[in-house]
This record gives sequence, C-alpha cells and structure tokens, in this order.
Amino acid sequence: MTPPSSPAQAEVHRPTIVLRDVSKVYRRGAQVTHALDAVSLTIAAGEFVAIVGPSGCGKSTLLRLISGLIPASGGEITIGARRVTKPDGGVGIVFQAPILLDWRTVIGNLLFPVEMQGKPVVAYLPTARKLLAQVGLADFADRYPYELSGGMRQRAAIARALVHDPVILIMDEPFGALDALTREQMRLDLEQLWLTTRKTVLFITHSIDEAVAARRSRRRHVAAPGPHRAHHRHSLAAPTRARWP
Ligand SMILES: Nc1ncnc2c1ncn2[C@@H]1O[C@H](COP(=O)(O)OP(=O)(O)OP(=O)(O)O)[C@@H](O)[C@H]1O
Ligand SMILES: [Mg+2]
Repeated sequence: MTPPSSPAQAEVHRPTIVLRDVSKVYRRGAQVTHALDAVSLTIAAGEFVAIVGPSGCGKSTLLRLISGLIPASGGEITIGARRVTKPDGGVGIVFQAPILLDWRTVIGNLLFPVEMQGKPVVAYLPTARKLLAQVGLADFADRYPYELSGGMRQRAAIARALVHDPVILIMDEPFGALDALTREQMRLDLEQLWLTTRKTVLFITHSIDEAVAARRSRRRHVAAPGPHRAHHRHSLAAPTRARWP
C-alpha cells in the first residue's frame, strides 16, 4: 500500500470516526424502543476502542449505525469527510452471529465483499487463502458453511471482514462462539493485526475481561446500562493498565 502523501489524503486513508449526538429509536407499531440516546464519540485513526455493556444497551445498534446499515434517528456520524448514510468498503464488519452465504464455499464467502465492491476477485485470492490459514481454516476453503462448526464459521467471518483490507474494523462480540483456547489465540492475533497494521478497531463485547485483555488499547469506552439508553461515558488513557470507574 502506498502511504498517503498529504494530510488530505491521510484523512481519506485513515479517517476519524465522529458521532455527534447520535440517537436511534426503533418503532414497531405502538412499540417504541430508544436504543441509543445522544451518543457523542470520537475515534481517532488507528485507535483500538472496546465498547463494553450489558445485553440490550445498544452495542449492536451502534455497530449497525457506524457501518451505515441502518439510519440514525438523530445526530450525525462521519467517517473522515464522509457522512455515513450507507455501507462503505472501507469498513470491515464481523457480526455477532456469523452470517455466511450457505450456497458459497468458505473461500467464496471470503471473496464476496471483494466481488460486491467490483474489485478483481483473482487478485484477492492469495490474501483470502492467507487469512484462512491464519484463522486455522486452510483445509476448509472449499467446504460449505453447513460443514463448519459455530466457531469455525465465526473464524471464517473474521477472515472475510479483513480480506479487502479495510481501514476500519468493527467487531460485534466476535469471539462469543469460540472455545476459550481459540478465543485467546484469536485475541492475540487481533492484537498483533492491530499492532502491525494500526487499523482502527471498534471491538464490542459484554465481557469486561475481554475489554481489559485488549491491553494495548489506547482507549476503552463503557456503555452504561439503563432502560433503553447507552451513554458512552468513560475513556481510559492508560495503554497497558486497566482502571475502571
Ligand atoms: N431491529 C430492531 N427493531 C426493534 N428493536 C430493536 C431492533 N434491534 C434492536 N432493538 C432493541 O434495541 C435495544 C438495543 O439492542 P442491541 O441489539 O443494540 O443491544 P446489544 O447491546 O447489542 O445487546 P446484546 O449484548 O444482547 O447483543 C434492545 O432493547 C433491542 O430490543
Ligand atoms: Mg448485540
């Protein structure tokens, strides 16, 4: 990858994510759910941010908003100069449940985002195979998702999020389906990936242990519980020591 040569280019290549007073209200008939209320957050390029919070506090909603998969009800989200209104190729997403296309092989699934972005699939084949090997699925490239265990599917989904080399990686409880040993290995791999590439990583989890384990994280945000609200209210500056309120 050629390094950007001007500040403007740098902003395009390594954009800051900014949320200003973002809210999300889900409406279904008379049912109204205030999932997020007035969330303001700035994530600098290259930061590793863990968002921690209990079930239902709006973590996945936050992921879907930043990814441009759903519109905000209020406020504004920008990634660099771009106002987020739809999904963008610069963002890689690992969903809470691994969503793989049943009719495509594992390698076919990995190459799907590349295909969708109209990029030359063959050029990405070596990267896809390398990523599969990194997540321990080198021998499963030509298998179908139904032939994989839950953990293997999630590992394939993690590899898929990385195949087009996104500058931003958003992961929603990505290790939930993995056994303890694989989880630890994947955590170390993720840390290594972050250290070597300095991608901006937004790591969503309900596990305080997992958030704390992201030791080199420059900032951690806690999504506080509350009825249908999440305040991103805490950030930690210490890179190697965890302190909690
Ligand atoms: N599509 C939807 N329609 C209506 N309500 C929704 C929708 N998605 C989420 N919600 C509601 O918004 C709130 C936040 O949901 P969200 O999935 O963001 O929580 P979460 O923090 O990711 O929880 P978990 O840790 O269990 O995954 C919940 O009350 C949920 O019921
Ligand atoms: Mg969730």
